[in-house]
Amino acid sequence: MPRLDDAQLESLVNRAWEARLNAYAPYSQFHVGAALLTADGRIFTGANMENASLGLSMCAERVAMGAAAAAGARSIVAIAVAGGDADGVLPCGACRQVLSEFSPSMLVICGRPDGSYKVTSLGRLLSSPFTGASLEKSKATEREPAVAGAAS
Ligand code: THU
Repeated sequence: MPRLDDAQLESLVNRAWEARLNAYAPYSQFHVGAALLTADGRIFTGANMENASLGLSMCAERVAMGAAAAAGARSIVAIAVAGGDADGVLPCGACRQVLSEFSPSMLVICGRPDGSYKVTSLGRLLSSPFTGASLEKSKATEREPAVAGAAS
């Protein structure tokens, strides 16, 4: 698991709170901000961005990951998430999978509204991500899926 000192953790959480100010959440009123630290020391931020077609809403974490990936970042050290839940907000399942594509063992720092934060890791939150290895293995088998009831 990557290591960051307290000052680095705190400053990333602060960036996530700052990013939260730009959340666009008129439907849920649940504002979330995220800040990602890349292996080469850059920070990218995101905020949730909802849509009237509710299923198209984007979580703060994926907005931040998209910004980082579009700028060429491929290795992420940590992501801080800031939301209104008193216990802190952990990335949803979909975001865990998306983050895992880039760095499955990044730190996840949850900022709480009282200013405190807790630290965990993506590996803990998503211990068995779906990976490109499955796609490769599937190519190797060259076999059509079995059809129920068909003679073998
Ligand atoms: N949301 C995030 O941005 N990040 C999370 O980790 C959890 C949920 C957003 C999505 C939606 O805009 C709102 O919070 C309510 O689910």
